[in-house]
Amino acid sequence: MTELISIKDSSKHVDQEVKMHVWLTDKRSSGKIIFLQLRDGTAFFQGVVRKNDVSEEVFEAAKSLRQEASFYITGTVHEDKRSHFGYEIQISDLKIVSNNEGYPIGNKEHGVDFLLDNRHLWLRSKRPFAIMQIRNTMFKATVDFFEKEGFIKFDAPIFMHSAPEGTTQLFHVEYFNNDAYLSQSGQLYGEAGAMAYGKIFTFGPTFRAEESKGRRHMTEFWMMEPEMAWMHQDESLDIQERYLAYMVKQVLENNEYELRILSRDPEKLRPTTEGNFTRLPYDDAIKMLQEAGRDIKWGDDFGAPDEGYISEQFDRPVFIVNYPTTIKPFYMKKNPDNPKEYLCADVIAPEGYGEIFGGSEREGNYEILKKQIEEAGLNLEDYQWYLDLRKFGGVPHSGFGMGFERTIAWICKLDHIREAIPFPRLINRMQP
Ligand code: 4AD
Ligand code: MG
Repeated sequence: MTELISIKDSSKHVDQEVKMHVWLTDKRSSGKIIFLQLRDGTAFFQGVVRKNDVSEEVFEAAKSLRQEASFYITGTVHEDKRSHFGYEIQISDLKIVSNNEGYPIGNKEHGVDFLLDNRHLWLRSKRPFAIMQIRNTMFKATVDFFEKEGFIKFDAPIFMHSAPEGTTQLFHVEYFNNDAYLSQSGQLYGEAGAMAYGKIFTFGPTFRAEESKGRRHMTEFWMMEPEMAWMHQDESLDIQERYLAYMVKQVLENNEYELRILSRDPEKLRPTTEGNFTRLPYDDAIKMLQEAGRDIKWGDDFGAPDEGYISEQFDRPVFIVNYPTTIKPFYMKKNPDNPKEYLCADVIAPEGYGEIFGGSEREGNYEILKKQIEEAGLNLEDYQWYLDLRKFGGVPHSGFGMGFERTIAWICKLDHIREAIPFPRLINRMQP
């Protein structure tokens, strides 16, 4: 019996007859031979139909195919050293499922707005294909890594009553007769999870209403947020480093083909797999920027160009550690050696990509945390449950949040974060 296979598995079936379910991306013919560019979601390759080898009916069917026609094929897999992919299929039989004219995305340059308007179809093209495959590898690497480290996945709610990262970036929703907000971080719930189960991570959509049109901002993005009981900030940095090294290693091992489609040089990613990220104190980062002639002083937050400059000084991600308390959220633990700063860190990705992770040790003391909530101008009542986590069996604990799409944008070297998610939500776009 002829086996049904996916294009990706062609290498295991050289010189065998197989069946495939495919779509057409492009077609070229020269009299007696038709070259069909095929895709099935796992890879792209070429099918060849020769007039002399197939029935009149099959040859006519192949000739009639339009872009994005869907069809069944039977044929024999051959090596094809000239192509990116390395294999092609000599087609012996072909049966059309759907074949229509007018597919809007041609094999030519289109403006990005046009492509985003047609995102539901654009996803089929090579570049989005490569990015989504890499996204999937990163997702799997995340789940595998944290499972091996003894974490469990713990899901945080999306409807929220309170605001962990400050109140200016919240999406308000009407919740029956009450106010609610879309979650900007699962962290506070993750802390409850850590006190219940030790090591947990939340991983889901989060929302920010920043009015930013920047290439690093979306209104909806995915965040991966581990939270660890009994853990200090330094150990959290160790985990972040090993996690990022592992994730990049998995991409290099599993997505060579996709990186080639994106013209992404794997050697630029290789140093990250070695770990050993510099832990640069905030104070030193400020000095580094001042020496480079940038207009910045102690106490300022970094802008995108500042982070870009710092990231270009390293061949792998770098931690900036211990920011001033005035520019970070209320839940962080102050540095006992210097109460002007928190025990916290951001991971800055190389090649100008800037912040991809943010995290800290959490304040574990009931009274101090209560004071920090009040100083932040937040309503104590809303945070009573969060304070309970300190009242009953509070322990040192730490955590961090990885911006999934920002990390994808760096690994794939994208110009804009919007390509890192299937359907981007931006200040001026929520369709399709
Ligand atoms: O630095 P942030 O705001 O940290 C938190 O939300 C913490 N509660 C995380 C934690 O400790 N559990 O966000 C974390 C990461 C950023 O480093 C960035 O990569 C990403 O989320 N991020 C965004 N990504 C896309 N669009 C936006 N508007 C983003 N805002 C933050
Ligand atoms: Mg941050």
